[in-house]
Amino acid sequence: MSRLAFNKPYVSGKEYEYIADAVASRKLSGNGKYTQKCHDFFRSQYSFPFCLLTTSCTDALEMAAILLDIQAGDEVIVPSYTFVSTANAFVLRGAKVVFADSRKDHPGMDEDALEALVTPRTKAIVAVHYAGVACDMDTIMDVAARHNLFVVEDAAQAIDSFYMDRDGTKRPLGSIGHLAAFSFHETKNIISGEGGLLVVNDPSFISKAEIIWEKGTNRTAFYRGEIDKYNWVDIGSSFLPSEIIAAFLWAQLEKMDLIQARRLHIWNEYHRHLNGYVDAFGIKTPLVPAHATNNAHMYYLVFDNVDQRTRVTEQLKSENIDTVFHYLSLHSSPYYKKKHDGRVLPCSDKYSDCLLRLPFYFDLTDEEIKHISSRLISALNHA
Ligand SMILES: Cc1ncc(COP(=O)(O)O)c(C=O)c1O
Repeated sequence: MSRLAFNKPYVSGKEYEYIADAVASRKLSGNGKYTQKCHDFFRSQYSFPFCLLTTSCTDALEMAAILLDIQAGDEVIVPSYTFVSTANAFVLRGAKVVFADSRKDHPGMDEDALEALVTPRTKAIVAVHYAGVACDMDTIMDVAARHNLFVVEDAAQAIDSFYMDRDGTKRPLGSIGHLAAFSFHETKNIISGEGGLLVVNDPSFISKAEIIWEKGTNRTAFYRGEIDKYNWVDIGSSFLPSEIIAAFLWAQLEKMDLIQARRLHIWNEYHRHLNGYVDAFGIKTPLVPAHATNNAHMYYLVFDNVDQRTRVTEQLKSENIDTVFHYLSLHSSPYYKKKHDGRVLPCSDKYSDCLLRLPFYFDLTDEEIKHISSRLISALNHA
């Protein structure tokens, strides 16, 4: 079998047509027809009150930090087991990041240990929906309400995933916190190469979000004909993507149901081949708690120890199967370890050492999934 890559970006085939249409229309900068189509899609599909395409999830998180008016010395609670942008966006504004550990049964942050991290300087909590699996948002929103904090959902991996709240209502991820950020990086379910989305659920942030998006100007209001010239009215940056990116994204959004159905099938196939078979080696398959749906963003295994993971990874690599680790704990990163308050975060470290992601992309065939799973079990038997 030829090399099995970890990721192969999905292409629907309509991308070129929509990009050609954008080019022919001679409207290539941001906030044109395709940007509006994407905004309308997200608003109607997930009932987001307001959203803005961005050039990445990193940018959407940076916009969130500006919107929350994060100042030097403010504290923001962030999981340690996450991508650097979850923390960096707030550090850029001068925040002190207070790292939360992960849950024992899931790489997402331990919601029950959150309140102990709140101090009078805490301004926000960033909830990362790891693997597209919802955090316990009722617990997080309760802590935030009790201490008057903002909640930002880092929904980078969580498109088309839902949370069942304690009243039994199924709520789209990204619609629960004050703000939320999604990624359309080429490794995600829905892609535009690089790309992202800021969701504004708290209406008090809407007009400022538009200004930050457009370099600190009120150009968006000007384009709507609400003012006769636009001006510099606040801080901001160039957060909006070009129409070429939006046209690409639109071609993917049209295929959302197809993409999601295929990815769920792939996830279920992996689970069928591995769940119940890897347990004997002390390995855990992914948990999807009762409050969460599965958007099939990734299939991962949590190994018993780092040596076991290394041996299996190397064996699979020698057989042309690419697997990848995920995050390295941010609290012990070269940039932040001296600034960290010294708490040991054993669960985050465990996932850094022991979690492995298996190849996962739309075009992966059932035969390839079976092959990867059986080679993995064989590698375990020899590890
Ligand atoms: C949890 C999380 N947040 C933020 C990001 C950053 O996304 P982007 O690459 O779109 O900036 C990622 C990237 O994978 C991520 O996993």
